[in-house]
Amino acid sequence: MTQLDVESIDKKYNVRPFVEATPSKSKVDVIELDAIDLSLFKEGPGHLKQRQELAAKLEKSLSTYGFFSLINHGIDTEEFEHLRSVAQSLLELPEEVKRQYLAGALTSDSEDRSISLGGERGAGFKPRGYWSMKNGVTDSIEHYNFRDLQQAQLFDKNRPYPEIARAHLPEVAHYFRYLHQTILRKITILCDIIFELPEGFLWENYFKVIDGDLYNSGSGFGRFMLYHAMKKEDEVKVDKNWLRGHSDGTGFTFITSQPILSLQIRDYYSGDWKYVGHTPNGLIVNIGDAMEFISGGYFKSSIHRVVTPPEDQKQFKRLVLIYFCNPKQPAVLDPEPLNSPKLKRLGFDKPKEWEKIVFAQWDDEKGRLFGKKAVNDTNNDEPNLVLLYGRLHERWHQAESNFSLDEARKRFNVITI
Ligand SMILES: [Fe+2]
Repeated sequence: MTQLDVESIDKKYNVRPFVEATPSKSKVDVIELDAIDLSLFKEGPGHLKQRQELAAKLEKSLSTYGFFSLINHGIDTEEFEHLRSVAQSLLELPEEVKRQYLAGALTSDSEDRSISLGGERGAGFKPRGYWSMKNGVTDSIEHYNFRDLQQAQLFDKNRPYPEIARAHLPEVAHYFRYLHQTILRKITILCDIIFELPEGFLWENYFKVIDGDLYNSGSGFGRFMLYHAMKKEDEVKVDKNWLRGHSDGTGFTFITSQPILSLQIRDYYSGDWKYVGHTPNGLIVNIGDAMEFISGGYFKSSIHRVVTPPEDQKQFKRLVLIYFCNPKQPAVLDPEPLNSPKLKRLGFDKPKEWEKIVFAQWDDEKGRLFGKKAVNDTNNDEPNLVLLYGRLHERWHQAESNFSLDEARKRFNVITI
């Protein structure tokens, strides 16, 4: 596609800067996550001490909040702004066009999961109203997923893409590939240092991409996600939750930091919900269940949610670029293959109630539960907890001392579906 073609397509779809929210003046509790400065990560034996210092900082974040912010990561402001502009136009396409590129069915409960990855993980659009929330309300979020980004053959040409997405595939691929191949690789090396493993262990055994071999490759999917304001009466019924609390199933999740105060995590120390503060040009990174399981529960896949922003930011929309990054499909989800001296010393073994599973199993089961009515339509903050392979499907109580499956069964409605 020539530069001229792209320019005319951009004109046709009114590609223009996305207007970010102005900072809120409201007094709310904000967590300032520890910032990992990736420019301090340098390769080679001469810089080991510096990497160890970064790893120590990362360890504190991952073993408590499960969240950190990433600065000086090598992606510049213009690249973020450009992609947000494209995302804005893509998500503004008329409904009849979006319907031609759906990721799955129109609602989670009508999805045939035996043939479809569904709105959560499939390539294409997830429409508003796909997920069931509490008190009969459905969500007001739209997103578009790009799949198989790391695999050149699969990602390119043969998939159906809306014209505006196709015109910008090279930049989309560049962004998400840089996140995986460069940024993620460095983070996994810091995790190796935490686990006292040879540097490169996690990358080689869990996250490395082998072109043409999707099954044995680390992978991920990219998402452009737009939160529309909810109807007033719905917002009341869901206690201002735009996206209910959940843990991700991923290895790592990368989100562009936003000035709009909307993302909340449960404070590891107090259990209270707190807003995540904004890091200009930063990425907010959290681990998901896969890394919690691989670390035997040492790292925390924390519960997070998205809520109505403060009054002075209500006229703005929340638009985020997300990368959900996964270990390879056959990666074992417990700490035994790591053989980590550190985890052994700290006593993080595979709990006996955990069945031996691989990532593909967790990913499939977790993916189908998010918007299901039977799981989500409860009358409090938490969904019904689902038992999957000897583990609870979301990590709601892992910070509580002595919390166990037996304890969960006594206190909550643990279901199997
Ligand atoms: Fe999430």
